[in-house]
Amino acid sequence: MTVTIVGSQLGDEGKGGIVDLYGDDADVVARYQGGDNAGHTVVHEGEEYKLSLVPSGAIRGKVGVLGNGCVVNPRTLFDEIDTLQDRGLDPDVRVAERAHVILPYHRILDGIEEDIKSEDDDEIGTTGRGIGPTYEDKAGRRGVRVGDLLDPDVLRERLEYVVPQKRAVVEDVYGLDIEELADPDAFDVDALFEEFREFGRRFEAEEMTVNAGAFLAAARDEGQNVMLEGAQGTIIDIDHGNYPYVTSSNPTAGGAATGTGLSPGVVGSGEVIGIVKAYLTRVGSGPLPTELGGVAGDTPGYDEQGEGENEELATYIREEGGEYGTVTGRPRRVGWLDVPMLRHSTRVSGFTGLALNHLDVLAGLDEVKVGHTYTLDGEELAAMPATTEQWSRCEANFRTFEGWPEVDWAGVAAEGYEALPENAKGYVEYIEDELDTPVYAIGVGPGRGETIVREHPF
Ligand code: GDP
Ligand code: IMO
Ligand code: MG
Repeated sequence: MTVTIVGSQLGDEGKGGIVDLYGDDADVVARYQGGDNAGHTVVHEGEEYKLSLVPSGAIRGKVGVLGNGCVVNPRTLFDEIDTLQDRGLDPDVRVAERAHVILPYHRILDGIEEDIKSEDDDEIGTTGRGIGPTYEDKAGRRGVRVGDLLDPDVLRERLEYVVPQKRAVVEDVYGLDIEELADPDAFDVDALFEEFREFGRRFEAEEMTVNAGAFLAAARDEGQNVMLEGAQGTIIDIDHGNYPYVTSSNPTAGGAATGTGLSPGVVGSGEVIGIVKAYLTRVGSGPLPTELGGVAGDTPGYDEQGEGENEELATYIREEGGEYGTVTGRPRRVGWLDVPMLRHSTRVSGFTGLALNHLDVLAGLDEVKVGHTYTLDGEELAAMPATTEQWSRCEANFRTFEGWPEVDWAGVAAEGYEALPENAKGYVEYIEDELDTPVYAIGVGPGRGETIVREHPF
């Protein structure tokens, strides 16, 4: 069967930890979208691994697949594989021939576009990894695919077509001098050909490229369990998120089918697990109706709400939860749990179960709030509206829960759900009721043993 892991909020919900936990019963773990904008943390035998491209399961000897819906920067991929090998692991990673390649000019264009937008405070706050520009080229039918790196003639032909266009964008649209950029070779056909053809040779030598759909279908035919690891989250999904403050792919469950080549029926007949952080964090720009606070001047898109109790609470939660971007190190904006957001996410992906993480981070607070509904133009809304302009005008109607104490979380995890403090149970049960979905796992700490497991999806 398949188990699909989907971020229900704005990314960084603790997907990596849950993939790691449930991935034990999987034979193959496949990413279906995104690229090295992801930052998934896995703690294994006391060692912390921060992965941006290698699927989390590869730490534990599973076959990791980067599906056709991913965008792959081979520099990052091989760096990550080499680093894992240096740490004594031997990750088995396969990459879809249909996946698109992030080239050096994509990263530069990502940066230039953000710089220009930031002059009017309109930047998205991207991770700067070239994700948007690569998906643009994919949709624009001028992308370079992983399979193209294996064929020198095709690679050269693709580069000769696309690179002059990129040069023209930099020079004629943005008025910049390529020779004055930090890496002029990023716009040089010969230099690109040489470096990326070499990556192609390594992909070939290590037999890493696959037809992802066929590969995964064959694994299933052999009775293997397949886990589909989403990156990012529903509210930064390009279709179902708060456009334009989104990433350029589909982290939602539909993306698991298009991004792997397994059919929607296959994905839908398995489990789809929504990963929920017990509060909210956001690293980029865009509205956040339940926001408590960000770091003025340091948190892109955070409009200063002034100093005060909220600011202090946000700082407390940020420090307790270690809420700094895995990829960029940026301090994350912090808010209360947003239930209208979760109702939207639950419908879009059809969650069959939830994993609720970071319950420990809220311990010790006198009270814990959730945005239960919104008010927009005098009307009460149960779920997030479709336009970002409307969402930014939504006011959250809060519900207050009595807090729960700091306890020995590893002990609670070992004993099971019944050992959870009563008020924390009330919080869990409220979420189950509102989303009409069972909570399969509860994260009470970053370590592998710090999760209460109520259900094994495989
Ligand atoms: P992902 O991008 O969704 O995989 O999440 P990240 O790895 O970017 O961020 C989650 C962070 O929270 C990591 O540092 C995890 O080790 C940590 N974490 C995950 N679950 C829990 C939890 O239940 N409690 C605490 N305190 N930390 C957690
Ligand atoms: P994981 O998988 C949180 C955000 C960026 C920015 C927007 C677009 O670790 O949960 P991009 O570089 O993708 O074009 O940036 O999306 N973003 C993430 N936020 N977690 C992530 O991944 C993210 N990947 C991208 O901050 O707002
Ligand atoms: Mg992350």
